[in-house]
Amino acid sequence: MADPIYRAPKGTHDVLWPESARRRALVGVFADIVEAAGYSEVVPPMFEHVEVFRRLGDATDVVRKEMYEFEDRGGRHIALRPEQTASIVRSFGEHRPNLPWKAWYAGPNFRYERAQKGRFRQFDQVGIEALGPEDPHLDAEVIATAWRFYECLGLQQVTLLVNSLGGPDDRARYVTALHDHFSTDIDSLSEDSRVTLATNPLRVLDSSRPEDADLIASAPSMLDHLSAEAGDHFDQVKAALTGLEIPFTIEPRLVRGLDYYVRTTFEFTSEAFDAAQNAIGGGGRYDGLAEAMGAPPTPGVGFALGVDRTLMACDAEGAFAAPDAPVDVFVVDTTGGEAALLITDELRRAGIRADRSWDDRSMKAQMRAADRSGAAQAVIVGDDELQSNTAAVRDLRGDGGQETVARTSITETLLARLK
Ligand code: HAM
Repeated sequence: MADPIYRAPKGTHDVLWPESARRRALVGVFADIVEAAGYSEVVPPMFEHVEVFRRLGDATDVVRKEMYEFEDRGGRHIALRPEQTASIVRSFGEHRPNLPWKAWYAGPNFRYERAQKGRFRQFDQVGIEALGPEDPHLDAEVIATAWRFYECLGLQQVTLLVNSLGGPDDRARYVTALHDHFSTDIDSLSEDSRVTLATNPLRVLDSSRPEDADLIASAPSMLDHLSAEAGDHFDQVKAALTGLEIPFTIEPRLVRGLDYYVRTTFEFTSEAFDAAQNAIGGGGRYDGLAEAMGAPPTPGVGFALGVDRTLMACDAEGAFAAPDAPVDVFVVDTTGGEAALLITDELRRAGIRADRSWDDRSMKAQMRAADRSGAAQAVIVGDDELQSNTAAVRDLRGDGGQETVARTSITETLLARLK
C-alpha cells in the first residue's frame, strides 16, 4: 500500500474513468437544461476573501468549523469556497449586471466535515442563482429547473421538501419562540443541542439525537409565524408548483445549514439510499445577502445540487449509466505502426473515438488490447492488407462479422457500422 502521504487527503478522492466521463455528461445535461431557461454560466474563483463567506452566518457549522482558511503570502485572509452562492452574489455586487441576473455554475467546494459515505471535504455542485425579482413564480421556476434535471437523469425516487422561513422579522420571531420552547425543558436536550440553542436555535430542529426528538416534535411551527405577506408569497409558490405538476411535501421543520435564507427554502432528498446523507440538493431565497455584501439590496433565489450524491442516487436507481467504453474503434497494425498512425488520425478527424496499441506488439497481444479497450469495432492491418492497400474491419461485440475494405473507405465503413 502507498505511503499515506501519497494518497488523496481524507475526504477527497480521484475520479477516474468512467466516472469522470459520467460527471462531465451530468454537467452537460445540467448546462443544457439551465441554458434553455436563460441562465448563463459564471465561473467564480475557488477562493475568496474570508469575509465573503462569513456572510453565510457566524453561527453556522460551515463558517465556524468547516472553512479551509489561510493567510496567503501577501497577508490576505483567504478561504476556499464552501459553496458558491456567496461568490455569485459577491460577483453580482462587483459587476452589477442588468437585472434579472440568471447565473449557473459548476465546480468543487471545500468543507472540513467529518468524512463519510456521501460527505466529502471536496465535493462538486451544480447550481443556479437568480437575482432581482421577488416574484414567487421565480421560486417555482428555480425549483422546477432542478426537478426537470433530475427527471432528465432518469431519477424517479426524489422527494421535494419545501418550507418558508418568512421574512427577516418572521424569522426572528420564530427563533425567539423556538428558543423559549426548547428552554422550557433544556435539561432534556442533548449536550450538543444545548450548545446549538445558545448560538442558533433553528439548527436544533436539525438534530437527529434521540434525546431531542420529543421536544423537536412539539416545537412550534414556522408556518404559524409567517406574516400575511410571507404566507401569501409561499401560497403562490405552492400553487405554481402544483400548476407545474411537481409533487412536494411541506416540511415546516426544514431548516437549512446556511443562515442567509428567508421565505422559500427547499431540499431534494433521494429515497433510493441511506437516510444519513440523502439530501441531494437544496436552496431557497436569500433576499438580504446582496445588501449584506455591500451591493444594492437585491432579492435572490437559487439552488445547488450535490454532484457526488446525485450520482450516488443514480447508482442506487440504476439511472444515468456511465459510458461503457472510452473509444469506439481500435486499430491493430502488425506492419510497423505507420498504418495505425495514419488511420487513427483519419478516424479522429471524422469524429470517431479511436485508439491503437504501441511498441509493435504481436497480432495476438494487439487483439487482446482491442478487446480490453471496449471498442465496438477493430480495424486490422497485416502484411496482406498493406500490400493490397486494404484493411479488415471487424465487429468486436455482436456478430457483425468482418469485411475487407479499401484503405480509402475505412472511415465511411466505420461511420455506417457505428450508427
Ligand atoms: P447546501 O445544502 O449546503 O446548500 O449544499 C447543497 C448540496 O450540496 C447538498 O444538498 C448536498 O447534496 C451537497 N453537499 C453539501 N455538502 C456536501 C459534502 N460535504 N459532501 C458531499 N456533498 C455535499 C448550498 O451549498 C447553497 N449554496 C445552496 C443554494 C444555492 N442556496 C441558494 N442558492
